[in-house]
Amino acid sequence: MSTDAIVLLKNDHKEILSTFKAFEKAGDAAHVEKGRLVTKIIELLTVHTYIENEVMYPRVRELLPDLEDDILESYEEHHVADVLVTELVAMKPDAERFTAKTTVLIENVRHHIEEEEQEWFPQVREGLGRKQLQELGAEMLAAKEKAPRTPAAPSALKKTIDAVVR
Ligand SMILES: [Fe+2]
Ligand SMILES: [Fe+2]
Repeated sequence: MSTDAIVLLKNDHKEILSTFKAFEKAGDAAHVEKGRLVTKIIELLTVHTYIENEVMYPRVRELLPDLEDDILESYEEHHVADVLVTELVAMKPDAERFTAKTTVLIENVRHHIEEEEQEWFPQVREGLGRKQLQELGAEMLAAKEKAPRTPAAPSALKKTIDAVVR
């Protein structure tokens, strides 16, 4: 199996985006279904941002200094998503703002994924060789094993601290 870093991240993106679609298709009154989908979205985002924040972004920043601004912007976009996620976790699916908040989360993450895939992942592919991308991917798979699955896990909270202290 390929462990190409960009292939792995794009696979994550596909799963995230299809869960977004399922949420959008769920009926207005489908509170149970929507609650379940948001729980899944939160878990997928928590794992995905963890492996990007802890492995992909720092390595790319180090190896391809030209992409520094893109990486810094990406950290901030993850942080905005985290803020919304933190609020959603505490919210009941039938709450007045639940769907609106999820919709804003979806819009933000879609934009972020688009920027990654269109604007700077291609430059990462160009800048790093096949071998480096394989190694980076293997590192990410290892990180995935120990990744937090809920935003309240200590290893997930670390990025909130990074967002304001670094
Ligand atoms: Fe990202
Ligand atoms: Fe991503």
